[in-house]
Amino acid sequence: MKVLVTGGLGYIGSHTTTVLLQNGFDVVIVDNLSNSKVDVLDSIESICKIRPKFFEFDVQDKEKLDALFEEEKPEAVIHFAGFKAVGESCQKPLMYYENNLNSTFAILEMMQKHKFCRNLVFSSSATVYGVPDSVPLTESSPIKDATNPYGQTKIMIEKIIQDFAKVEDINVAILRYFNPIGAHPTGLLGEDPNGLPNNLFPYLNKVAVGALPKLNVFGDDYNTPDGTGVRDYIHVMDLAKGHVLALNKLKENCGLFVCNLGTGKGTSVLGLLKAYEEANNIEIPYSIAPRRDGDIDENYAGTEKAKNELGFVCDYSIVDACKDGYRFQIYSQIVSHIKNQK
Ligand code: NAD
Ligand code: UD1
Repeated sequence: MKVLVTGGLGYIGSHTTTVLLQNGFDVVIVDNLSNSKVDVLDSIESICKIRPKFFEFDVQDKEKLDALFEEEKPEAVIHFAGFKAVGESCQKPLMYYENNLNSTFAILEMMQKHKFCRNLVFSSSATVYGVPDSVPLTESSPIKDATNPYGQTKIMIEKIIQDFAKVEDINVAILRYFNPIGAHPTGLLGEDPNGLPNNLFPYLNKVAVGALPKLNVFGDDYNTPDGTGVRDYIHVMDLAKGHVLALNKLKENCGLFVCNLGTGKGTSVLGLLKAYEEANNIEIPYSIAPRRDGDIDENYAGTEKAKNELGFVCDYSIVDACKDGYRFQIYSQIVSHIKNQK
């Protein structure tokens, strides 16, 4: 099956591309490099010994997208492309609504026009559940109003896709990711955001290699066993595998399919920190800081649907994620050091 992967050079898209290639899928990537580097293609090639075809343009550009569909004739799209930083989305709401919604409209329009493409996987987020009434969060838990424009785009896009799927004869998997962490076990792919990371795991990675002095633990008075926030951290390679399973499900002509991708297990901030220290035999300096606005006590996924309907079970542990993340961070430091010397 030929799959168009939008945002395929980004964090989740690049890992998913490796798993797709290694499972015999033919992959074409489109990415405008707004949050990624073209070197990621070399890493994908080193891992898979295949270099996927790459188009550098903005998915919102319907003319270019149309030409790509004509030329490549993908049978499926995995739509990762979009902006994802919650804080930035509050500062630049229009930029978020424009990119996330328009890129999705462009993909849906192409699917309406080109009937050879009947399968869509969309990257949604646990953020659509808002402040949970109870955990675990299952696919039938209520969708809440988001507290930020990023989350709002995910809720809106889910609705748009669902309406579209009612009138178009297509198969759609809406995947609600919990908290992806870790990196490719080779150390060649991972997440290395520019500037100060917003999320816990990339922040931990930077502290681990001395690029940042200490981790600020946002709040120790949450209603959780150790007082720090609890989340469901899933290894990015497991998440990547979830996309291959979702494509297999779509091949069965399943129509609309909405599914969580998480581990079903919550881990606190201090729990993750301890796991990172033990996995890598290092010490992570930290201090307790005030709560971050908008954070919740606890969330983790209900995993029954993913297990029963996709056959999804996680292969990697938190310890694996900590080892892989640290390995990638060290590798990227060495690479950037060599580049700076040239
Ligand atoms: P990422 O920023 O690493 O990857 C997104 C990629 O899309 C980047 O390579 C970027 O250059 C590209 N892109 C953005 N807008 C584009 C456009 N208009 N045209 C072409 N390329 C464009 O993000 P990620 O962590 O890999 O996330 C992928 C998707 O998963 C996003 O939709 C994100 O909202 C969703 N998601 C991510 C998380 C997470 O924690 N990482 C959690 C839930 C959902
Ligand atoms: C974030 C996004 C959410 C997205 C999710 C998926 C925010 C506010 N929310 O969720 O929309 O769907 O990622 O990955 O960005 N923490 C610290 N110190 C830090 C960073 C984080 O203590 O420097 C704590 C947080 O308070 C939280 C936990 O670590 O308890 C996880 O935070 P983070 O990695 O940012 O993820 P989420 O907030 O769960």
